[in-house]
Amino acid sequence: MKTEIAVLCGTPEVDDKILRRGAEIIRTGGLVAFPTETVYGLGANALDSDAAAKIYAAKGRPSDNPLIIHVSRPEEAELYAYVPEEYKLLAEKFLPGPLTVIMPKRDSIPSTVTGGLDSVAVRIPSNAAARRLIELSGVPIAAPSANLSGKPSPTLASHVIEDMDGRVDMIIDGGECNIGLESTIIKLAGDGRAELLRPGGITKEQLEEVFAEVKLDKAVTEKLGDGEKPLAPGMKYRHYAPTASLTLVSGESGLFERVIGEKAKVAGLGVIAFDEDVDTLVKLGIRRENILSLGAKSDVNVHAARLFSLLRECDTRKFEKIYARLPERDGLSLAVYNRIIKAAGYDVIRGEKEE
Ligand code: TXA
Ligand code: MG
Repeated sequence: MKTEIAVLCGTPEVDDKILRRGAEIIRTGGLVAFPTETVYGLGANALDSDAAAKIYAAKGRPSDNPLIIHVSRPEEAELYAYVPEEYKLLAEKFLPGPLTVIMPKRDSIPSTVTGGLDSVAVRIPSNAAARRLIELSGVPIAAPSANLSGKPSPTLASHVIEDMDGRVDMIIDGGECNIGLESTIIKLAGDGRAELLRPGGITKEQLEEVFAEVKLDKAVTEKLGDGEKPLAPGMKYRHYAPTASLTLVSGESGLFERVIGEKAKVAGLGVIAFDEDVDTLVKLGIRRENILSLGAKSDVNVHAARLFSLLRECDTRKFEKIYARLPERDGLSLAVYNRIIKAAGYDVIRGEKEE
């Protein structure tokens, strides 16, 4: 299939023409990759079972891993889900934005979209082009991240082109996604509590301002045992992983430097660290070009925005072994922690004090 690639330029008339073309493809059952504030999405008409099936094929995604539906306004959620009272409060505080809410599904959404589940995940992106595309399509858009299954989610159109050229009808290039990690996913218990299935741009701390309790699904921070299931089916798959094996090292004083110092001579070594680490790592014998920085240590927004790009760069650079710092678990850093620990297959070196 020939993939149309169109670049948004910020001039409303020009961009609207591109988005109208995208909407036409969605309405007629095709696939369109589009930018959101989190990551690029791979969209199809969520009311059309055949169109949704094409998403699974293009990504190589297991059919039991449900898709998120994207709408442009909170009121539209009512058409596709049985919406609990708390949703209105969430909508007032956080929507549009990087928050996906799982609610009981109405029959209007085909079971292909929800991987056979009786619930549906609903999201309202804050990215203006994404919302305009949904409005122009006149239908909800089912969209997972626009990467091949198992690869890091795309935060640039070039990542989407790398994975999806020839597999989708159109790719809309809206520049870099400003958050860079997928949306926070929560499930409402209907009794003032919520479960956090995947951390993202809306933090656990922010959600705790709305809910009496926010329970973190075990799969967010820990490897599940045999027979245990995550609340979000997608969290069970190996994900975000670069080709090289990745090991995380906790921040206990000096441990990271000690580990890297011992490995400095390993062939094909890459290190993911912070700006402040670079000089020390160079002194330990790591070549500057083999150090990829997530940004300044305190700038968590930049860590989130850069992580997936850096994981892809590890492949481009053909690293064979990568070490990275284990992130903190508070605020947006919990989302960085969740993605990188999955990319590392939970391989973490911790200090004695932390074990
Ligand atoms: O930021 C995002 O959420 C991006 C952009 C494109 O909107 N989308 C995204 O979709 O990350 P995807 O398919 O890559 O991740 C969706 C996650 C999967 O882990 C899936 O299992 C879970 O959401 N999910 C979807 N529907 C669900 C449901 N009804 N119950 C439980 N988990 C669900
Ligand atoms: Mg994904």
